[in-house]
Amino acid sequence: MRRPALLIGTGAVVLVLVLLAVVLVTRGDDRSPGPTPTAAASTPPAEAMTTVLSSTFDEGDEGWAPLGDGVQVSDAQDPTHDGAGSLLVSGRSEAWHGAAVDLSGSVARGQVHTVSAWVRLGEGAGDADVQLTLERDPGGDDPLYVHVARGTATAGDWVELVGTAPVPEGDGEWRLYVETTESTADLRLDDVTVQRPTPEVQTDVTALKDATDVPLGVAVGPQDLTGRPAELLLRHFDQITPENAMKPVTVQPTEGAFDFGPMDEVLDVAAAHGLTVHGHTLVWHRSTPDWFFEAPDGRPLTDSAEDRALLLDRLRAHTRAIADHLAQRYGDADPVTSWDVVNEALDPEQPDGLRHSRWYEVLGPDYVAEAFRIAREELGPDVTLYLNDYDTDAPDRRRALVRLVLDLQAAGAPVDAVGHQMHVDLGTDVDRVATTLDAVAGLGLRQAVTELDVAISGRDEQLDRTPPDRLDAQRGQVRDLVAAFAQRDLAFIGVWGLYDTRSWLRAWPQERPYEAPLLFDDDLQAKPAYEGFLEGLGGSAG
Ligand code: XIL
Repeated sequence: MRRPALLIGTGAVVLVLVLLAVVLVTRGDDRSPGPTPTAAASTPPAEAMTTVLSSTFDEGDEGWAPLGDGVQVSDAQDPTHDGAGSLLVSGRSEAWHGAAVDLSGSVARGQVHTVSAWVRLGEGAGDADVQLTLERDPGGDDPLYVHVARGTATAGDWVELVGTAPVPEGDGEWRLYVETTESTADLRLDDVTVQRPTPEVQTDVTALKDATDVPLGVAVGPQDLTGRPAELLLRHFDQITPENAMKPVTVQPTEGAFDFGPMDEVLDVAAAHGLTVHGHTLVWHRSTPDWFFEAPDGRPLTDSAEDRALLLDRLRAHTRAIADHLAQRYGDADPVTSWDVVNEALDPEQPDGLRHSRWYEVLGPDYVAEAFRIAREELGPDVTLYLNDYDTDAPDRRRALVRLVLDLQAAGAPVDAVGHQMHVDLGTDVDRVATTLDAVAGLGLRQAVTELDVAISGRDEQLDRTPPDRLDAQRGQVRDLVAAFAQRDLAFIGVWGLYDTRSWLRAWPQERPYEAPLLFDDDLQAKPAYEGFLEGLGGSAG
């Protein structure tokens, strides 16, 4: 039996120049037959490829699950190929045992994909072949396996597996997994990407930013900064929010060890193209490394005066380091004009309306005011400081928000603005949204929509496709929401993701491969929701 050609290289350029022979084999449940080569697939130019999966394992398992009985996956800090984490796959007793991630909503049937991953074996294991496999489960019939890349992995170093393969037409759920050909050693996985070709960005539709004076923002990750996603971004938006690159866990994964690389990557693009940046975020109960809340000896911080001082010092040091870095890198051209200082502080179930997070436990209810004071002192007078929260349209959360703002104002805390995340759905009552916007306006603060997306499915609903009638309903919902925004004085309107594949809702609160909450579809083409956005602004698609 022959094996597919292998490419063990490091760069995308090499990747597109050297084509892999790929194989399509259908295997029975014994998963025994290995691959046999077929014709080489042709690969589109690099700029036409869009990254539809990027797993860095810096934020946990990122949706990867164990494959096979007894297999466990865990996010491991050491060793990593890059960044804070990698994925450890252990408890394997068969070669096909491994780890898998769902790709159902994001693969493009009938198109060539490129897959790349860094792999390594567990401590002490002998060298062994590892492969990346795309699997289609048509439900009922035998699954189809596409072996995309294979290479020899070792325990001593990371090896990149990279390959291209056409994804065939046909229905079914798709997933990508890592397995071996024989060995049952532990596997480590890091920096996995899947790319697919993307049609050209439409130039015959109105640029959204040209249809309004209100700045339009979008959350972006590294995969949005090049090629066609970058074209789409620059065509329609004039502000960005780094989706994860400015979160504490990214910027300061361990105390004193700052990593500004991911943040610089995003901000450099903003600076080069004259986009403003909304910073996200300083104080949050998520995406904040545990060390923030632990004493040097590992003991959890308490509300003692000493521990309070330590946590406030850490917040100040964190904020100052970012401010210093921005000043040094961009000087007067710093693109960051606003910040979510405190994110998701509300919990209407609590008597005081505040979430009892670790920040709250250590610092008490005044932590919100303290955070704004520190932010003002360290970030300077020109940056707009936001209190950001979700579901602010819900009456109990609206009441908690208004109460918190009044308390902050009474305490003299320098809060400038309220951010409404606006993760809503087709059932959201636009009148309630409008009531909240008017209530906040009445407090004399600025406000913005910071993270708009309009889900077409319920949080525990399993769609098996993206129904066109829901996309039409989404158009109307987006139109009505944006009309409500446009009638009020908003500092900006921000969307949480550039196109559907990139939405966090594909993985939250569970895998939702056919969720489509954004304005552009998986092919970066304008959806009915885009038309709705334009209609809400008072324009037309042109
Ligand atoms: C989400 C990102 O989109 C994901 O990539 C990440 O894995 C988790 O966080 N509210 C927020 C954002 O304030 O930071 C969240 O972003 C979405 C919900």
